[in-house]
Amino acid sequence: MSAAWLHDVGYAPDLVATGMHQLDGARYLRDVAHADDLICRLVAHHSSAFIEARNRGLSEQLASEFPPVEGLLSHAITYADMTTTPDGEPTEVESRLAEILARYGEGDLVAESIREASPLIIDSVRVVTTALAEG
Ligand SMILES: [Fe+2]
Repeated sequence: MSAAWLHDVGYAPDLVATGMHQLDGARYLRDVAHADDLICRLVAHHSSAFIEARNRGLSEQLASEFPPVEGLLSHAITYADMTTTPDGEPTEVESRLAEILARYGEGDLVAESIREASPLIIDSVRVVTTALAEG
């Protein structure tokens, strides 16, 4: 699934515009890579991006440029993001969330957004884990 591979492209230094990696990445995929609309929307919203967008004052841009995707696909890209370390190793969602909080530090906008999003992220991981177990 392309979106799972591309979801963090917005961290690439040359792509940083707003500083919100989901939105920067989705804009790059739309405007430069001319990626499929669904991929752009999934990348834009992965890991409950609407919370960070709100905290940055970017809710309107995010929602109007990239309508959210509902359902299992949306959970799946969050699962991919949140069960993998920054080095690409498998990890538990709780460890991943703790790593993000530690990396950004108390009071940082990204850390606070992730803290707020944590219940939704954990729920996405649960949904996908259940779906995988059911085959
Ligand atoms: Fe991400």
